Amino acid sequence: MSSTDANLALWARADEYHDSFLIKPDPILDSVQEKTKARGIDYEIAVSPAQGKFLHLLLLSINAQRVLEVVALELEDLHADVIEENVKAAGQTEKVRVVRGPALQSLEAMPDSTEKFDLAFIDADKENNTNYFIHAKRLVRKGGIIIVDNVGRRGRVADPASTDSSVEGVRALLRYIKDDPDVEATTIHTVGVKGFDGFLYAYNGKN
Ligand code: DHB
Ligand code: MG
Repeated sequence: MSSTDANLALWARADEYHDSFLIKPDPILDSVQEKTKARGIDYEIAVSPAQGKFLHLLLLSINAQRVLEVVALELEDLHADVIEENVKAAGQTEKVRVVRGPALQSLEAMPDSTEKFDLAFIDADKENNTNYFIHAKRLVRKGGIIIVDNVGRRGRVADPASTDSSVEGVRALLRYIKDDPDVEATTIHTVGVKGFDGFLYAYNGKN
């Protein structure tokens, strides 16, 4: 077993141990997972149960009424179909609107006058992280939250030898935020069933 595999096993075991106390079985989420995999969609990149619950608790804590998720702005029809089927199966069609098409175009089409969101979750193509972030700042209320997934990338963001486009997408976002007077942000690195990654948490000071 390589040290990477050993670490992953250790992190996954720790995550699953804690989940076994804190996260109740959820038949709806189980069936969402099964149906999504059955349609040939890569489920490995979904947020982990602990991360999903963290987001859920965060939304409860701030009494969020409107959430912008830059994965529900969906390019692929198959993905959009499966999201809609899953939302329907969960009885949440009144609450969720899936917007089809390139996310950046969908965001550009949302005017400043759009009713503001309490939180935005950016978890799409990493190359566009900064573009999505700029739109999120515009569309999230003052004092709202912007979370960006996958900013750790197994530590590769900090590795000068890594130059792939996703890593570069995270670096560009960090450079942007460094000089941005509108937000205060921090990265929390994470380990668990999805390996070593992290999310960026930004407080939107404008609007
Ligand atoms: C990848 C994308 C994700 O959104 C994620 O959570 C994990 C991995 C990826 O593209 O590799
Ligand atoms: Mg992700």
